[in-house]
Amino acid sequence: MCGIVGYIGQKDASQILLDGLRKLEYRGYDSAGIAIHSADGLEIVKEAGRIARLSEEVARKATNGSVGIAHTRWATHGAPTKINAHPHTDAHQTIAIVHNGIIENYLDIKKELSGKGITCVSETDTEVVAHLAALLWDGDLVTTMHAITTRLRGSYALAMMHASDRNTIVVTRKDSPLVIGEGESENYVASDITALLSYTREFKLLEDNQIARIGRNSIEIFDASLHPVSVESMHVSWDALAAEKGGHAHFMLKEMMEEPKVVRDTIRPRINESKDAVVLEGLGLDKELLAGIDKIFITACGTAYHAGMVAKYLFEHLGGIPVEVEFASEFRYRNPLVGSRTLVIVISQSGETADTLAALREAKRLGAHVLAIVNTVGSSIAREADDVIYTWAGPEIAVASTKAYIAQLSVIHLLAVHIGTLRNVMDRSAVRAYLAELEKIPEKIATILEQRHVVQQLAERFAHAGDIFFIGRGFDYNIALEGSLKLKEISYIHSEAYAAGELKHGTIALIEEGTFVAALCTQGTMIDKMVSNIKEVKARGAQVLGITCERFGSVSEVADMTLYLPDTPDNLVPILAVVPLQLFAYYCALERGCDVDKPRNLAKSVTVE
Ligand code: AGP
Repeated sequence: MCGIVGYIGQKDASQILLDGLRKLEYRGYDSAGIAIHSADGLEIVKEAGRIARLSEEVARKATNGSVGIAHTRWATHGAPTKINAHPHTDAHQTIAIVHNGIIENYLDIKKELSGKGITCVSETDTEVVAHLAALLWDGDLVTTMHAITTRLRGSYALAMMHASDRNTIVVTRKDSPLVIGEGESENYVASDITALLSYTREFKLLEDNQIARIGRNSIEIFDASLHPVSVESMHVSWDALAAEKGGHAHFMLKEMMEEPKVVRDTIRPRINESKDAVVLEGLGLDKELLAGIDKIFITACGTAYHAGMVAKYLFEHLGGIPVEVEFASEFRYRNPLVGSRTLVIVISQSGETADTLAALREAKRLGAHVLAIVNTVGSSIAREADDVIYTWAGPEIAVASTKAYIAQLSVIHLLAVHIGTLRNVMDRSAVRAYLAELEKIPEKIATILEQRHVVQQLAERFAHAGDIFFIGRGFDYNIALEGSLKLKEISYIHSEAYAAGELKHGTIALIEEGTFVAALCTQGTMIDKMVSNIKEVKARGAQVLGITCERFGSVSEVADMTLYLPDTPDNLVPILAVVPLQLFAYYCALERGCDVDKPRNLAKSVTVE
């Protein structure tokens, strides 16, 4: 979704802003622009399309100055055109504004402005904010921003400059992320920390409704009543290189190659020395709290939701507790049966997904204890949840989530064991045996990744198929859903994931001569059933790839092609089974010439509803 960058210091602002925008490209965008305090006032440069175009235009105009704000826009209100791109200004170009989020009452404000003879030139919801700022301007950026926010409904991160104040950028946020990066005689603003990692590791995280006045040597933060507040700085240990491709063709490939390390980093510090207990430091979810819980409700979006589906099976099986899973976008609108005896678990890579954040708030309003499984330190979800378990996946840049999903599954296994222990479902020896197998996972993932050329050959063969089906039962069905989502989002091949036993109730009508079906067969108790399902689709002409463990020989007898995963207990195999599916999606996208890291229409961090 939209990205904001701001800089105030001694250096050439345009280069820092453009660099920051490039780092935010992964969020998804379709136009970009910058505003710089130049000798002649506020200079605005905007372009539809890629940042490279904006960069050429900035170079051509020789835009020069040491203070500026910039933006990548992911179109919501109005097409991705130059005129709709941010920054937006008032009619006299005295105010420049960039915005991430949605101003819900923009039409009312537009009407009011029009009554005063003020016309908007763009179709956006943002432009009204610039005109409103000019109307409310009282000579001070902070009090003007405050006056603006009392008029706005919706979600926003805003950065604003005024032509008469060359020493200030003012920012605020509500339900949309914004961080302030601290430097020596210079400061920064961005939608997320990855944009600023090459410049600083010290950040102040703005809370909802706070307003910050940012100068070269000062950051003043005010609450919603304009009282000064002191906000601690946070040190971020992610390094800049973690957000670079590191010699790989795409972020997605680099991130998949990091999966063994990600699992290791996520599980190792949480296993005790004698390797018979899970230690989740600082977690409020203890024996007493759990005793008062009679249901777990998991809510998330997309890939994180798929991780939640795996969690349901594991928590019920290892923890002996009923679990419901719901899309976050549905959860908040359906009066879920949630109360003080419910543990709500939200899962999110970015920690900023608007639907997930709203579900978290709804769960808290209903009195539930909320535990977040999050990758991004200091994100809104991490800050608002009662408890947090971080996935140590590092920055994930490719829009298609891969290593973050693997890290989520790793945390879910640890949490399942933790719950199983607290509820006396698992004893020490069961925990020891389980953790011993979990610790073997990184090496097994590495083995699959080493053989990625096998998956590449398969992808080259099927990349031009019209439809691809993924089938499985139990955990395998959950993994099928994730494999299908991955394929759709980056290769644009139509794909469906089906619980294999459901095929015969309708979907099997779509199977015809040559249809490619990937059949996941990793669950011991389900192998015979899966063999029958493979036979059913083969009888209708399907070409079947069996994905199975070495110990299940019967699969290769019926499938046309077989991919073997290292032998692993049924509960743990999902972490392995998804890896070839991620690789398959990647190589299909590559073969079809798709923009792997930045697929069409998608944003990395979905900060609007
Ligand atoms: C993953 O490949 C997708 N791009 C998407 O489904 C994503 O998982 C979803 O938007 C949730 O994001 P989050 O984990 O940052 O909350």
